[in-house]
Amino acid sequence: MISSSFSTTMSCFFDLFPSLSHSVVFPSLFIAISVVFFLFRSSPPPPSKNLPRVYPIFGSYFSFFANLKRRIDWTADLVRNSPSATYVFHRPLGGRQVFTGNPANVQHILKTHFSNYEKGGVFKMTLRDVLGDGIFNIDGESWKFQRQVASHEFNTRSLRKFIETVVDAELNERLLPLLASVAKSGSVIDMQDILQRFAFDNICKIAFGYDAEYLSPSLPQPRAKFAEAFEDAMRISSQRFREFLPVIWRIKRFLKIGSEKRLRVAISEVREFAKKIVREKKRELSEKSSPESTADDLLSRFLSSGHSDEDFVIDIVISFILAGRDTTSAALTWYFWLLHKNPEVDAKVQGEIMEKSDTHAVGYDDVKHMVYTHASLCESMRFYPPVPLDTKEAVSDDVLEDGTVVKKGMWVTYHPYAMGRLEQLWGKDWPEFRPERWLREAEDGSEKWAFVNRDAFTYPVFQAGPRVCLGKEMAFLQMKRVVAGVLRQFRVVPAVEEGAEPLFISYLSSKMEGGFPVRIVVRE
Ligand code: HEM
Repeated sequence: MISSSFSTTMSCFFDLFPSLSHSVVFPSLFIAISVVFFLFRSSPPPPSKNLPRVYPIFGSYFSFFANLKRRIDWTADLVRNSPSATYVFHRPLGGRQVFTGNPANVQHILKTHFSNYEKGGVFKMTLRDVLGDGIFNIDGESWKFQRQVASHEFNTRSLRKFIETVVDAELNERLLPLLASVAKSGSVIDMQDILQRFAFDNICKIAFGYDAEYLSPSLPQPRAKFAEAFEDAMRISSQRFREFLPVIWRIKRFLKIGSEKRLRVAISEVREFAKKIVREKKRELSEKSSPESTADDLLSRFLSSGHSDEDFVIDIVISFILAGRDTTSAALTWYFWLLHKNPEVDAKVQGEIMEKSDTHAVGYDDVKHMVYTHASLCESMRFYPPVPLDTKEAVSDDVLEDGTVVKKGMWVTYHPYAMGRLEQLWGKDWPEFRPERWLREAEDGSEKWAFVNRDAFTYPVFQAGPRVCLGKEMAFLQMKRVVAGVLRQFRVVPAVEEGAEPLFISYLSSKMEGGFPVRIVVRE
């Protein structure tokens, strides 16, 4: 039956292409069929049934593609199902990428062999259009310079000023009045969007001395053109990493088609916005008599440090918007979700807030000592880290602490999202949202609890080593101030179907897919 239909097909074929002789077609057909069998032949079964098969040329791309929507969970499963929590993923055309959740390997990459693990050429090329030479996309001397100049922005004096002026004003004049009006009307708002706006105004104010007024105390809140463009620029740029081969997005960019067409427009809108901020600041500085006295925001510092190249300063501005806008807002979005699911934790956070703000509004010193709230934020980011995975490129051949062989040019990814869910790191009760795992009873009697930090390689949510997040303390202060301000007056109640679980996604930094619809209820 099969052979008769095959001979019929072949005779039709020769009718269509009479010039082709049998002596050419049959060997060619044999080679084509052999190639197909070679490509899709069963590879040796993986060591565990939970790990993907590897095929010649395609590597494990089919499994990756099949799990594209849940790729963070999927790669986390690979880490969890691998011995020593380290998996070598086979990319197309023989490329390899290490995913690790092993703290010893993480320490090796981020600290002890720091100089061997850079952002690397492919990473920089992929994100260059959007991040340029900003701090997130650069190694070597330029990174050192940016880090050194920026670090002044994170000293105690600046942090206090940040909380007491910038965050408090944004909270009292914009966020809280907005939540009060939402509570009154009973309407549903996207809390993720509101928190992004809040964080965006904050970072613009502290880093550039510029009030973007992106959050307003009244509804509706139209999506600003810039915000749409920024969102698109980050999403499409990060999607470049998922192409079968990098050449595909490069061709699309060259031809200005598909997603690359939108990316081009989005990037130009983002850069225009950043240019406006830079030019305004330059004008402001030129009008002041003594430039040193004005260098109290990050942008002034860079402009006064002799680097007046506009494109370079724009790159810096974009990196800081990314750092400040998307991280704390993602962390808080998931935090409010987890508080709703864990009312006993919510009650303890509430108790701490009321204790601190019994006689006065919560200030910088109170926020610093909100130990239980601090622990609950750490616990929330254990499940939902704002940067769920982070990739480096090996400068030369190396061997990780668990014996994993790394070749020059290979990508090595540490995986905070997977690590937060490893039983060997957090114990059998790892699925429980339990801030107490970060606390012990205080010995000095001045406080009830003392915070117990985990080492940064077991919990690399803020990265670790020489490139540890510069804004970590600022982020905690800001988040605790927001939590205290909001929860003192309101409850944040998700407006989702009973039993529905939001989807965790990531474009460079994490998001709740589709936003976080909530109702705001005034606390009794
Ligand atoms: C919950 C909030 C935050 C988390 C979880 C977080 C996490 C991280 C991570 C994982 C990195 C390493 C990224 C990489 O190298 O690819 C990083 C770097 C950085 N973060 Fe944060 N971040 C947060 C908030 C902030 C804030 C509010 C700022 C303030 C502007 C900030 C400023 C920076 C800077 C400047 C770097 C680059 C450091 C360097 O490369 O030397 N971060 N952060």
